[in-house]
Amino acid sequence: MASLFRCTASKLPSTQFLRHSSLGKNLAVVSSFFSSSSSHNAIRNVTVIGSGLMGAGIAQVAAATNHQVTMVDQTNAILTKSLRSIEKSLGKVAKKKFKDDPEGEKQFVTDTMSRIHIATEPTTNIAETDLLIEAIVENMRTKHKLFTELDKAASSHTIFASNTSSLPIGEIASITKRKDRFGGLHFFNPVPLMKLVEVIRIPETTDETFDALFQFSKELGKVPVSCKDTPGFIVNRLLVPYIMESIRMLERGDASAKDIDTAMKLGAGYPMGPLELADYVGLDTTKFIIDGWHEKYPDVPLFNPSEIMNDLVARNKLGRKTGEGFYKYD
Ligand code: 3HC
Repeated sequence: MASLFRCTASKLPSTQFLRHSSLGKNLAVVSSFFSSSSSHNAIRNVTVIGSGLMGAGIAQVAAATNHQVTMVDQTNAILTKSLRSIEKSLGKVAKKKFKDDPEGEKQFVTDTMSRIHIATEPTTNIAETDLLIEAIVENMRTKHKLFTELDKAASSHTIFASNTSSLPIGEIASITKRKDRFGGLHFFNPVPLMKLVEVIRIPETTDETFDALFQFSKELGKVPVSCKDTPGFIVNRLLVPYIMESIRMLERGDASAKDIDTAMKLGAGYPMGPLELADYVGLDTTKFIIDGWHEKYPDVPLFNPSEIMNDLVARNKLGRKTGEGFYKYD
């Protein structure tokens, strides 16, 4: 993924490895902290490529459960921002975990942060990585470029996983020579709170690989479910058409956005209504998923695009992250 990660704002040589000692202040070059796993299947060292909402969340929960994590993104500025959001989220988690124990709370955050190492080069520390989780842009060509490079550099024992929301895992894995050690690990937003992980296997995924991914998800304190490599796996195959139906309801003028959301929260017990949830996930993400499925399955009406959503995305009203989507946010 040369274009995405190598040409960074950092002036440090690409082989150097950065560790934050105090968020953004002292990015010091250090040598490797990592020791190879002694047991064949044990996952100790994790690399997360992409430090957006999902990548940062995955890095956070892995580090909080005693894994050494290398979090990779294009620039140190992006990584520093992600570290800040991880620290903020950890603070909230620690408050609940260590009620009436401020020392324990502080220690948990410090210890977890110390296990997250940042790098702008995807192959940094790759030789020691037991599990590599990709959480970059949903573009097949970009993912292929990244995995081609990583496949050459990684140790033969390293398992590769993608956190894609809707792209076929088999197609992502197809350019690697380790389809037997490839699977999907699909997390949910917000990662620190959502208990589910979908573990996706392709026909070539060995039982050993699948078991390691399943076990790793459990170690994170999550509940894994087994999925086949079908569009949207389990959750998004149900959730995205549901969100799209709620948008079509709005388009037809059947009900207001607020009433649709209130109805589903109070009538079905969902924590968020579908339009609130679309804003939370991001309208660009939702549009990307539905457009991809519509292109592949044009005869499935549930996958039809929506004019309102296309218009909001065109005007950069992507939901919470840009301050406006179906609703306005402060
Ligand atoms: N990290 C740590 N703690 C967090 C947090 C975060 N990122 N976000 C919220 N919290 C904490 C809050 O501090 C609060 O703590 P408190 O109880 O001590 O006050 C607690 O969680 C509850 O938060 P809020 O009061 O702000 O709001 P809610 O009670 O509504 O909970 C929610 C927030 C968990 C996001 C809940 O609304 C929810 O479950 N929503 C549905 C989310 C969902 O469906 N996600 C899946 C999206 S689909 C997806 O991700 C797949 C992808 O491929 C598209």
